[in-house]
Amino acid sequence: MAVTIKSQREIELMRDAGKILAEVHERLAEIIAPGITSLDIDRKSEEWIRAAGCIPSFKGYAGYPASICVSINDEVVHGIPTEEHHLFEGDIVSLDAGVIYKGYQSDAARTHGVGEIDSEAKRLIEVTKESFFRGIEFARAGNHLYDISSAIQQYVESQGFSVVRDLVGHGIGREMHEEPEIPNFKPKFGKGIRLKPGMTLAIEPMVNAGGYEVWILEDDWTVVTQDGSNAAHYENTILITDGDPEILSLN
Ligand code: CO
Repeated sequence: MAVTIKSQREIELMRDAGKILAEVHERLAEIIAPGITSLDIDRKSEEWIRAAGCIPSFKGYAGYPASICVSINDEVVHGIPTEEHHLFEGDIVSLDAGVIYKGYQSDAARTHGVGEIDSEAKRLIEVTKESFFRGIEFARAGNHLYDISSAIQQYVESQGFSVVRDLVGHGIGREMHEEPEIPNFKPKFGKGIRLKPGMTLAIEPMVNAGGYEVWILEDDWTVVTQDGSNAAHYENTILITDGDPEILSLN
């Protein structure tokens, strides 16, 4: 399937989906504290997503068993919630969630500190978030896709961290994963597609404090850093317009 251009009606629905997801993330931020389990977070997420009239898009996606991904410390993404995983003071936790509203998807991730965290962990979270904003400066009609990728990579590496290579952002709409793939690094060849108004993209830098290499655990989902360093994730669903990009999943 080619890259889709959304109609006004579709954009409205994606705005609604994004607003709901942004609110779920705001509420989740308030419950992050030492002692809760990743399963507690999953239960709340599913409750709030459904209460808003949405479907949690991750649940059952390629067999994924939960409504949200909860990835702690060296876990980069796709951590599966369980009642055994407790949050401890000083941890960092990445929450990735997706919703479907009237057939349209939104996908967003945030990383939080649990209680007091050290300054390097704080810096990792801030650099990851900032890299998203540096990237979307280039999310403009007429630019090339990899202008976004390059900006993210350059900023992250200038701060002494690395971008994960094995996972990428993506187009989004009726499907969670649409074309194009959106790397957070500049690929060896090409410039990427030319951006057009009406494209909706999930931009999602995944940043490691150490090296960029990752492994997948035995559960076939959880992605962890090979060197055991911390990782952070920040993601929003955005719309390419005639002017500034519109961030759909941030209120
Ligand atoms: Co995504």
